[in-house]
Amino acid sequence: MKLLTILANLGLAAAVACPHRKLKEAGLLNEAVLAKYEELKRDGGHIEQRSSNGLLSPSTLSGLSLPLGGGLVNGVLQPFTGRLSFLVPPTPQSFGLKAIPGTDINHRYIAPGANDRRGVCVALNTLANHGYISRNGITTWAEAANAIQTVFGFGYDMAAILSAVGLIAGGDLITGKYSIGGADSRVPDNLGPSLGLDKHGVCEVDNSITRVDTYFGNQANFHLDRWQALLNDVAAHGNLFSQAAFTVEKKRSYDDSRATNPVFDAGPKWFVIAHGERVFIYRTMLNGTSPDTAPDFGNVGPFFLNETFPHNWFRRPTPFPFADFLVDITSLYLGSPVELGVNEGLDNFVPLGTDPSVMTPSQIACFVLENILDEAPGSFSRVVVDNYDIVQGFLNGAVAPFFANYNCDLQNYTVPSASAGEETTGSSSDDGPAIVNGVYQR
Ligand code: HEM
Repeated sequence: MKLLTILANLGLAAAVACPHRKLKEAGLLNEAVLAKYEELKRDGGHIEQRSSNGLLSPSTLSGLSLPLGGGLVNGVLQPFTGRLSFLVPPTPQSFGLKAIPGTDINHRYIAPGANDRRGVCVALNTLANHGYISRNGITTWAEAANAIQTVFGFGYDMAAILSAVGLIAGGDLITGKYSIGGADSRVPDNLGPSLGLDKHGVCEVDNSITRVDTYFGNQANFHLDRWQALLNDVAAHGNLFSQAAFTVEKKRSYDDSRATNPVFDAGPKWFVIAHGERVFIYRTMLNGTSPDTAPDFGNVGPFFLNETFPHNWFRRPTPFPFADFLVDITSLYLGSPVELGVNEGLDNFVPLGTDPSVMTPSQIACFVLENILDEAPGSFSRVVVDNYDIVQGFLNGAVAPFFANYNCDLQNYTVPSASAGEETTGSSSDDGPAIVNGVYQR
């Protein structure tokens, strides 16, 4: 009962279909976590207000200017202006239980051809193989955001933010285009090299589930041995790809990278992305007909081994909003807390000094925003830094408005970080061929 009250105070009861599922998972949490949630009860002022269609209510964000348009009206992103006037924002899609791809002939599986891009993200690869985004793997901010709402039931806010991060990580802000794999001439380089989603360091991080750390080679390709190691953790947890299984898998893979990768980077981006990709599996790859049950092999296997949908698969019946994502990544982190920091050589881990386990969800949200607004542009090329007003206009108009309810101090984040202008490469993808039963068809 105590936990139910706490979760209700977190605003979860209104936002998700089944708080009991979360309660069950909360059984994993220790005393420190419960203490943190107690703190939240007292800090209940930042609960998001949602209208019946699941969109954020209109709100203002103090200190935020929108020099190039964007912003939210009735929870929907508005058009951009000036240099960003060709950028098309995502639009809200309909939700509810639905067979995907069902009998829709337009969305049947077609294996990627020689000129088609595939990369780090199994979900985007699957969407491209089924034509929910462009089959050539060159997508846009709006196309990918709309597709992950339609197919996986991501909430509008979650979808818009995630695809915006994909765009700023490796795409072209002026056209909104990005490659879901490596660099591609079909994506313009208006603001410097568009290196694609596979580019290491912004969105692609160490400690992926089935991809190796960049230090060990191509960071975009699927590795059967990593998949097998995951299956062992799943087998030890009732054969389900549950939060409990990923609590163990994440810690195991973190410990392994920290011990063997001399440049292992477990910084703030790692915190958000490494936890996020694991959460996505048990929140949005599950079969919507059993939304309260973690997915099993028959459900998750086809996404990873063949980049296609399982037979008779339904998307989740309710949207997965950004507020739930924040709670879920924190909860997964707290199941097996590890130090944030970087290896500067083996046996020389330099802690970051940031401890997510003592943060409230509002602070976690601002920590995420800080990373998007500050650190990501810091990895851009010099050309982007010189055009920073465009980047800032996009971030202010497309991403920051979704954080309105978290009281983040935006003044801290509105200049490029100290590392800005360093050319970040590391796009070593040789993506493209179809994958069948976990083996690339070269
Ligand atoms: C526009 C939307 C998306 C973008 C920009 C995106 C981006 C990425 C990136 C950059 C990675 C690599 C992270 C790393 O280095 O560990 C990744 C991995 C992953 N993504 Fe996505 N993603 C998107 C949508 C989704 C969706 C909708 C799902 C689930 C339904 C998903 C599930 C995953 C999973 C499970 C991985 C880990 C793959 C592995 O390690 O084998 N993603 N994504």
